[in-house]
Amino acid sequence: AVSWKLLDHPKLPKGKPVAVIVLDGWGEANPNEYNCIHTAETPVMDSLKQGAPDKWRLVKAHGTAVGLPSDDDMGNSEVGHNALGAGRIFAQGAKLVDLALASGKIFEGEGFKYIKESFETGTLHLIGLLSDGGVHSRLDQLQLLLKGAGERGAKRIRVHILTDGRDVLDGSSIGFVETLENDLAKLREKGVDARIASGGGRMYVTMDRYENDWNVVKRGWDAQVLGEASHKFSSALEAVKKLRAEPKANDQYLPPFVIVDENGKSVGPIVDGDAVVTLNFRADRMVMIAKSLEYENFDKFDRVRYPKIHYAGMLEYDGELKLPSHYLVSPPEIDRTSGEYLVHNGVRTFACSETVKFGHVTFFWNGNRSGYFNPQMEEYIEIPSDVGITFNVQPKMKALQIAEKARDAILSRKFDQVRVNLPNSDMVGHTGDIEATVVACKAADDAVKMILDAIEQVGGIYVVTADHGNAEDMVKRDKSGKPLLKNGNVQILTSHTLEPVPIAIGGPGLSPGVRFRKDVPNGGLANVAATVMNLHGFEAPSDYEPTLIEVVDN
Ligand code: 3PG
Ligand code: CO
Repeated sequence: AVSWKLLDHPKLPKGKPVAVIVLDGWGEANPNEYNCIHTAETPVMDSLKQGAPDKWRLVKAHGTAVGLPSDDDMGNSEVGHNALGAGRIFAQGAKLVDLALASGKIFEGEGFKYIKESFETGTLHLIGLLSDGGVHSRLDQLQLLLKGAGERGAKRIRVHILTDGRDVLDGSSIGFVETLENDLAKLREKGVDARIASGGGRMYVTMDRYENDWNVVKRGWDAQVLGEASHKFSSALEAVKKLRAEPKANDQYLPPFVIVDENGKSVGPIVDGDAVVTLNFRADRMVMIAKSLEYENFDKFDRVRYPKIHYAGMLEYDGELKLPSHYLVSPPEIDRTSGEYLVHNGVRTFACSETVKFGHVTFFWNGNRSGYFNPQMEEYIEIPSDVGITFNVQPKMKALQIAEKARDAILSRKFDQVRVNLPNSDMVGHTGDIEATVVACKAADDAVKMILDAIEQVGGIYVVTADHGNAEDMVKRDKSGKPLLKNGNVQILTSHTLEPVPIAIGGPGLSPGVRFRKDVPNGGLANVAATVMNLHGFEAPSDYEPTLIEVVDN
């Protein structure tokens, strides 16, 4: 059994309220015109930086520091918040799927055996994000899965693609469809009837999260399961090229489409006896489709037809809900998170964000676990996000409302830890709209100010950090760092980055001798949990990544 009791910190007191602020998508990069954080007026974050090196420093937020396969992998919110909350580095979904494919174990597991039962008489459907972004899925993993399924008896395969443009450059969907079509042609040469059956842009079709807008999932259902969409094409390449030619179209928001035969009939609806795999490894944007595919009783939208299928996720997406019940690869077992420890040690916790990031400071923070550890000790507040818009038209999002909730929670003195995620720099950064992203960064800075003011009033402590980079670099660069041009224009970077993120500590409750240590130069997000535990007056468990702070006698 786990011993939950934490040792007292030898020098730091208990009972100081601690605000933990995560700026989503706020990295540190050289100042220039594509650095929206630099361009924006951000007096609060600027003043925190003046505290370097004792009270402000950078931490790693990408690659192996957060459990991703390589240091070429940009950071993302899932792995970032996992590391922040869990205090240790776990091999993440991307890596676990790589290993299972490389060893072939993926094809021997329970999940693959389950879908294989449909290969003889049914169709195998693969639904997921088509790109090499490595945040939710990866093209090479899809390719290996297709090949492996073909070799193991799948006779008929249909792929339902979701175009990206968010973790990769806008417009790259065309190249990914070409690559996939090549692979499917090779499978056909080997006698497997393999085709793309439907598609749509990830933000408009299927990949909603945290139940922000079920219509997104319904659009996908109609195309993938029912084989219905108002856009019909004879090939996916034609679909993506034509749909992209519409004014303002982009990969993230392509409308749903189906591929039809010469009689205008969908080539791949999902029917009784078929197998379905959702090929994303990352959970947040798969939970909703997993529910719609798996739950017999379901009332989020009218499914019209509910086929009896063998369904497996690439991973298990929710360990509490055991969703889905079949999966190809076991997820990382992120146990003994800092949130669970702190609750066991009397730390009353408040967490808040708006819908699009709510699960980040709760579900991801708590090791991909939904709900409270102890409802008597915790309160999680979700502020509804605006629905049906792209956030460049509303770049302030709900930052002010989140800050107000945090302020009120701090001033109520009912909580020892008040934790928020401020989504602006990430969500607006993903739209690629530079002007709007500048507004977004200022809004986040304003929100930080409100929370720090409340901490000032109650004599508390603050920890301000971020989960990964995004808004600090909005342009695709060559190896030497120069912006890449295409047809004379710079290529806008909608994705996250490889940059480190800041962490700042302070507040009237911070003991005078506390400062950042010099001996963890490679510190990353996983070092933050021990740091926060110390600020609550506890030693971290011995297997946590080391704390970033030390206490010197003045
Ligand atoms: C998304 O899901 O919106 C992006 O792929 C990654 O963004 P996040 O990791 O910041 O959520
Ligand atoms: Co993001």
